[in-house]
Amino acid sequence: METVVSGIRPTGNLHLGNYFGAIRSFLDMQHSHNCYFFIADWHSLTTHPHPDNIVRNVRTILAEYLACGIDPEKATIYVQSDVPEALELYLYLNMNAYLGELERTTSFKEKARQQPDNVNAGLLTYPTLMAADILLHKAVKVPVGKDQEQNMEMARKFARRFNTIYGVDFFPEPASFSLGATAVKVPGLDGSGKMGKSEGNAIYLADDPKAISKKVMKAVTDAGPQEPNSIKPEPVENLFSMLRIVSSEEVYNHFDGLYNSCAIRYGDLKKQLAEDIVSFTAPIRERILEIQADEDYLDRVVREGAERARESAVRTVAEVRRIIGFR
Ligand code: AMP
Ligand code: TRP
Repeated sequence: METVVSGIRPTGNLHLGNYFGAIRSFLDMQHSHNCYFFIADWHSLTTHPHPDNIVRNVRTILAEYLACGIDPEKATIYVQSDVPEALELYLYLNMNAYLGELERTTSFKEKARQQPDNVNAGLLTYPTLMAADILLHKAVKVPVGKDQEQNMEMARKFARRFNTIYGVDFFPEPASFSLGATAVKVPGLDGSGKMGKSEGNAIYLADDPKAISKKVMKAVTDAGPQEPNSIKPEPVENLFSMLRIVSSEEVYNHFDGLYNSCAIRYGDLKKQLAEDIVSFTAPIRERILEIQADEDYLDRVVREGAERARESAVRTVAEVRRIIGFR
């Protein structure tokens, strides 16, 4: 069975973008692959979060992962910082990672611009830690969104470089994975671009129906089509993309038809969209609340996950030590 690894940073609640961009692939793969899904709490330290927030955010995201349907009996779910072997591999990979290539990554340059007073070494070596996460389990597939492509390129480069330096064929090159034709970019409803936490336009899985309705009713539109079959401007196209993601084909076709005949009323479309988002998120939200209340269950999941993840990690690191020459 092929090994799959992916992680999400615990920086807030899961939103529809995370769900349709990444989690849905996780749900799909857990039945057919050897999956490791982890909460990347070390990665979140680059922004110096308060200790109380780390604990809270890790538990929140764990409960949300589980509520989405990631099954701890099928996949190994763990917290990154519970598996210290990754740090040893991170060190080895850093010895073969060069300042120039790390400085040139777009995510580093962007972060350096966003937080000019905190351009720390963890930010610089973010791609090596991510490579360590992946290579730790010798994963061949990594379900992530398009925004992670450069980090994935680095992970492949570090794997190849290790193999070349030591003359071994040890690490496989991990490929990015998305659910093929159904992979989506979930748009924001504020006019342009994608849905994201830092974009401030996210609809969260844990939002209550009122909050969802409020966000959808606020979505940016225009004065309406001026002639039949006209091209939809981006804000309107985004509403339709969202409709395609969460509503039935009939509903989509209904509103598309109204748009094309200039008979659309955006208020009706938004009302339907809000309803459909709520029917999708309501059961997940219910499970989030249930699971969050069950501390014992959450404790057991992370404990057992850490055990299983460490088995694989210890094996890889022992092998790496031998290859490097520590005997
Ligand atoms: P983030 O929330 O940015 O840490 O991303 C966690 C995962 O969700 C990554 O695999 C992203 O590629 C994916 N993701 C986040 N936002 C979106 C979006 N709007 N559309 C599709 N995928 C997304
Ligand atoms: N960098 C990823 C993100 O921001 C999170 C991440 C960390 C990750 N380590 C990983 C994803 C390993 C996949 C595999 O979304």
